[in-house]
Amino acid sequence: MKKRIQDMDVNNKVVLLRCDFNVPIENGNILDDSKIVASLETIEYLIRNNAKVVILSHFGKVKNEEDKKNNSLAPVAIKLQKLLNTKVIFSKQTRSLYLEAKIGSMKPGEVIILENTRFEDVPDKLESGNDAQLAMYWSGLADIFCLDAFGSSHRKHASTYGVAKYIPSCIGFLVQKEVEMLDKNILNAEKPFTIVMGGAKVEDKVDLIESLLPKCDNLLITGGIANSCLHTLEINVGSSLRTTDEETLTRIRSILINNKEKILLPLDAMIGRVYDKEYINHVNINEVTDDDIIYDIGIKTLNKYKEIIDKSNTIFVNGTCGKYEESKFATGTREMLNNIVNSNAIKIVGGGDGVSAVKHFQLQDRFDFLSTGGGATLEYIINGGLPAIDNIQDEETSNM
Ligand code: 3PG
Repeated sequence: MKKRIQDMDVNNKVVLLRCDFNVPIENGNILDDSKIVASLETIEYLIRNNAKVVILSHFGKVKNEEDKKNNSLAPVAIKLQKLLNTKVIFSKQTRSLYLEAKIGSMKPGEVIILENTRFEDVPDKLESGNDAQLAMYWSGLADIFCLDAFGSSHRKHASTYGVAKYIPSCIGFLVQKEVEMLDKNILNAEKPFTIVMGGAKVEDKVDLIESLLPKCDNLLITGGIANSCLHTLEINVGSSLRTTDEETLTRIRSILINNKEKILLPLDAMIGRVYDKEYINHVNINEVTDDDIIYDIGIKTLNKYKEIIDKSNTIFVNGTCGKYEESKFATGTREMLNNIVNSNAIKIVGGGDGVSAVKHFQLQDRFDFLSTGGGATLEYIINGGLPAIDNIQDEETSNM
């Protein structure tokens, strides 16, 4: 078991806290603050227990000087201050004498957040390359490192991974909660365990499907990944999004053949046409023609999948059923999610697209757990661990 924040003496200590504040921002406005809200428990605990809190987070991808203009964490600092109702000092620098002096004069309960850790990626990828000097610098500012960035724990970066080498380390409440929920409800799910898997790119999902199949009873496939599956079974998917990668198609074909009793594919579809944006039609899955594009599942699929959902004790949602952002193709995703929330099963959604759809239809309060991770959640399910979490001290072996 990993050392937890509640196992550390944080009184009067500088705690370097890695959060995942990679939230969607448009024109300086935060569109979804869930990841910031999910981090509050640890930050408030640290403030209450008289720690001096120094927060690190990445934001977006920063590949050049230009990217820095659109990827500042300043709006997050303002939002955090509002949510905490406590002054949050924003350091425009990720390294500076001023920052060192500021931290040196911090009082217990004070909070500083540094600018986007990925600013250190220009020009030399120091953050994402896990540069030892950078990790040493950041850890040198603090007494304790606390990892609470579950969504970034698949990254071996200086701020998620490197820093833990130089000072005592532990995991925060969000990481504890994510790991506990995923272990209990996905890795050791109560059966019948049903997975509803959709989304666009099948290439990203083959590993996940292979690792989940032995654990689940039913895999209900929807969305773009269903198109690739149907194609390998020689069902015409017209001009729909599908993979052309031969290796992926071969893997999918063998997965489908070897797991016939567990995997369900769409029976019907809502289709559009490339040259006619207004066109919409409902067809059986074997009636799709070359000009058609599958944008959503149809009612027969929804009803068939509902029968399985109603008999399940655990449901994991990953991905969407179609192009739900366009209202005429939103029915499949919306009704599938409604069927899930109306079932008695434990319901978990993990992965960026699925979480966004749940929020789009305002069903977030009816799920038992929404994972804050995208890639991290999927990698945790596949590997049963994540590098930045595995790297934290174990409770027994730490000698503090
Ligand atoms: C996420 O949003 O999934 C995490 O913050 C990780 O972001 P990244 O893929 O840019 O590392």
